[in-house]
Amino acid sequence: MQEAMIEIEGLRKVYSGGFEALKGVDLSIRRGEIFALLGPNGAGKTTLISVVCGLVNPSAGQVRVDGYDILDDFREARSRIGLVPQELTNEAFSTVWDTVSFSRGLFGKPRDPAHIEKVLRSLSLWDKRRNRLITLSGGMKRRVLIAKALAHEPEVLFLDEPTAGVDVELRRDMWEVVRGLRDNGVTIILTTHYIEEAEEMADRIGVIRSGELVLVEEKQELMRSLGSKELTLHLHEPVTAIPDVLSRFDLRLAEDGHALIYSYDATREDSNPRGGIADLLAEVESAGLGFKDLHTRQSSLEEIFVNLVRERT
Ligand SMILES: Nc1ncnc2c1ncn2[C@@H]1O[C@H](COP(=O)(O)OP(=O)(O)OP(=O)(O)O)[C@@H](O)[C@H]1O
Ligand SMILES: [Mg+2]
Repeated sequence: MQEAMIEIEGLRKVYSGGFEALKGVDLSIRRGEIFALLGPNGAGKTTLISVVCGLVNPSAGQVRVDGYDILDDFREARSRIGLVPQELTNEAFSTVWDTVSFSRGLFGKPRDPAHIEKVLRSLSLWDKRRNRLITLSGGMKRRVLIAKALAHEPEVLFLDEPTAGVDVELRRDMWEVVRGLRDNGVTIILTTHYIEEAEEMADRIGVIRSGELVLVEEKQELMRSLGSKELTLHLHEPVTAIPDVLSRFDLRLAEDGHALIYSYDATREDSNPRGGIADLLAEVESAGLGFKDLHTRQSSLEEIFVNLVRERT
């Protein structure tokens, strides 16, 4: 058994018009993880997924799924993958049952009504199995797409913005479904614009920008290393510069000199509770600066992401 479920090396994609959508991507997806791919519109997320799924030809590089090359061993590679595409494309007039069963057949798997039933029940679609797709709500259609992707029992599931335009409740339901799949050993790769989704679901996070993977990190690690905390002191009197005696602290002025912002590593606080802050406050007093109030906050993954994308623009 291969250690990595998906191995991507030096992947490039130049579309026929000459646009380079992927500029040499290296990425290894572990077996059984939930990997969230974050990136702004046009970053290359769908292109990356489409190459792995064999829908778009790579211009250079290599991709292996469970050790099978996506070009040389296409069938072996593709049969391990389920794809929930970004765009809703359904056969409007077929029924839920037929659509999902047919999808299994496309992969050459023998009929297995018990499996199809299990999938439909897990997605709360069982009651709708005889409905034509055209009669379903948008959220239900999305679930049908997931059911289709699961019909052939894939080991890897790609979800390309699975919850775009889905209400909060259904989004939570879908997260439950995805977690359940992971618990059953399915490797999950999802793209999303909802930071909340990555924060909630992912084991690891990759950030892609303009066709380049700019970061891949454990979610916990990412939030720890980039999740700095800030302490804001609102001063009684504005200052024009930070007094020299405070230079050893990482301070900056804000609000036209009415506020001092102290950035510190959120992880250090545990080992050294408030030590740094107590020192700072004492020194601020001795520098003759009075303050009205202070408050702290920790940056969320959302800010981390926005900063990452912005920094490199
Ligand atoms: N068939 C195509 N021909 C030419 N250019 C394309 C084609 N498909 C995508 N592109 C371009 O490649 C870039 C990446 O597109 P892609 O769909 O992979 O982005 P994305 O990260 O999925 O964006 P979104 O978040 O909007 O879904 C974009 O600039 C897009 O215009
Ligand atoms: Mg996309």
